[in-house]
Amino acid sequence: MKRTVTTLQKAKEEGKKISMLTCYDYTTACIVEEAGIDCVLIGDSLGMTMLGYDDTLPVTMEDMIHHTRAVSRGLSNTFLVADMPFLSYQTSIYDAVMNAGRLVKEGHAQAVKLEGGAKVCPQIEAIVKADIPVVAHIGLTPQSVNAFGGFKVQGKTTDNAKQLIEDALAVEKAGAFMVVLECVPAKLASLISKKLSIPTIGIGAGAGCDGQVLVYQDMLGMFNGIKPKFVKHFANIGEEMKKAFMAYDEEVKACSFPAEEHTFAISDEVMKELN
Ligand code: KIV
Repeated sequence: MKRTVTTLQKAKEEGKKISMLTCYDYTTACIVEEAGIDCVLIGDSLGMTMLGYDDTLPVTMEDMIHHTRAVSRGLSNTFLVADMPFLSYQTSIYDAVMNAGRLVKEGHAQAVKLEGGAKVCPQIEAIVKADIPVVAHIGLTPQSVNAFGGFKVQGKTTDNAKQLIEDALAVEKAGAFMVVLECVPAKLASLISKKLSIPTIGIGAGAGCDGQVLVYQDMLGMFNGIKPKFVKHFANIGEEMKKAFMAYDEEVKACSFPAEEHTFAISDEVMKELN
């Protein structure tokens, strides 16, 4: 059954957890769809995971549309959310609505996600008025990495925690139908989830959220570098891929691949004509 804003809201009301994974390409989208994941996020994290940037700031609308469109071709029942990249909505209400519209019209997204709390509420209201569902994103918002002075857990002091609660209530009031809580202490995320009537999706925010999201390369163990505390490796695909690539390299060099069964035949008569 196709997931919609209504089914996601119903999940919250019925206390059913929502699963979300990032996805950036058609092949992975087909696998995510078959696995029965509820929502896919074409995160601007693609700047780091797919394009090799140090952070998400260089990602463009064209990057987002390109990847969103590819993912949309692999999905039928999974709900599709696309990220609004840095400076595609902060600059003006007009930019926010036009760029959200592009992600829907050109990328085939069902909803857009943008970062920030109370300060982006005018943008959320305007996008929702254009009938585009909005997912808000508060806590550690990676597009603000330079303002935060690094990727840090948010909401640990009383003032900061109060601000996060206010931001959560503000984005709900502005019309967001879901909110991502990133790198927020588990007890605070639980409290926010109870205060809101819309679903909360946590990443590094504990089990008290209404759902969870992870970057798929992180949960598949595809990166050798730093593993954030909140990431669990559900498989070791990076190691498996490396082993397969090494085996291929060895077989090519040893002339054991391709074998007979991987080749196409031609009749001896035809070959004779060629010699
Ligand atoms: O860009 C992204 O992948 C995200 C998730 C980490 C929530 O925003």
